[in-house]
Amino acid sequence: MRRIITFGTFDVLHVGHIRILKRAKAYGDHLTVGLSSDELNFSKKGRNPIYPYSSREELLSSLRFVDEVFMEESLEKKREYITQHNADALVMGNDWEGKFDEFKDICDVIYLPRTPSISTTEIIEIIRDVHS
Ligand code: CTP
Repeated sequence: MRRIITFGTFDVLHVGHIRILKRAKAYGDHLTVGLSSDELNFSKKGRNPIYPYSSREELLSSLRFVDEVFMEESLEKKREYITQHNADALVMGNDWEGKFDEFKDICDVIYLPRTPSISTTEIIEIIRDVHS
């Protein structure tokens, strides 16, 4: 069995998220998602996620191509998480191109093209504009 791992916040779930998860799963038989804690998201993006961890976890877990979700609490622990979850491959969107090459000694590292013209940040901005 080939195990895949990916990481992200997946806040305000959108089609870019769905596509990367589906494509990640196609590289193996089992997909684990390291889902950023609310605190980690705040430290990365300077804002709280719209949906709290428990809701984001519930949404992702209900997708048929997601087999397991765990909380990513620190960016520094990626190597540990990859090892703990016995991942054969790490799949990330190409906004992270090259950033995880250091893990090539323990798993395959694959970057996939992002879906154009959609992001959580942009959705939040559009909704904010409509209401201002
Ligand atoms: N992703 C993608 N295509 C998009 C948006 C995101 O493939 N249009 C991928 C990212 O490359 C990443 C995963 O989805 O591997 C989770 O990304 P995340 O940062 O949670 O989503 P974004 O929409 O990029 O969020 P934000 O705008 O807050 O940065």
